[in-house]
Amino acid sequence: MTRRPDLTADVSEILLSEEQIQAKVLELGRRISDDFAGRELTLVSVLKGSLPFMADLMRAITIPVQIDLMEVSSYGGTATESSGLVRILKDLSSSIDGRHVLIVEDIIDTGLTLNYLVRYLRGKNPASLKICTLLDKPARRIVEIAIDYRGFQIPDQFVIGYGLDYGEAYRNLRFVGVLRPEVYTDPD
Ligand code: PRP
Repeated sequence: MTRRPDLTADVSEILLSEEQIQAKVLELGRRISDDFAGRELTLVSVLKGSLPFMADLMRAITIPVQIDLMEVSSYGGTATESSGLVRILKDLSSSIDGRHVLIVEDIIDTGLTLNYLVRYLRGKNPASLKICTLLDKPARRIVEIAIDYRGFQIPDQFVIGYGLDYGEAYRNLRFVGVLRPEVYTDPD
């Protein structure tokens, strides 16, 4: 992206406000705390997009948890499409053998990233493996993914903010917004 991102002008619409997101995070935190009470829970955040969601969700959970961070990137795709080939840039720091694991994602789009990650993490022998995503964009699904905790189902629009990027920008917006099409169709 040669054009300088504009955090205000490049957003055509606020899809989810900061207040809507925070209310949903609290609700998810309560459900997760109830469901995993008395169990050894590890939250596995998939960087970089899930960073704000993970930071808020872990503080909305009222039972003891461990956290771990993975970073993956799909390669062979484009800035707006994932390819299904996933490369692990940062692996888990601790063993998840025998622990209950909850994957924390910002968005499930084609499902290819999670399809890979679920298989990878299952191979590490967790007691259980569940999925929490803030956003679900079912219109673009290629692989079926069983979502245990879903924040919002969203339409097939290019969304940015609250961790989600275009060209590594916009992640620091406090809301989820729709990116103006001119920004990604006319990169100059
Ligand atoms: C995004 C998002 C998911 C993945 C979802 O990550 O965080 O991991 O894409 O897309 P999929 O369902 O089509 O596989 P991205 O690869 O953009 O990396 P980032 O989190 O560092 O922005």
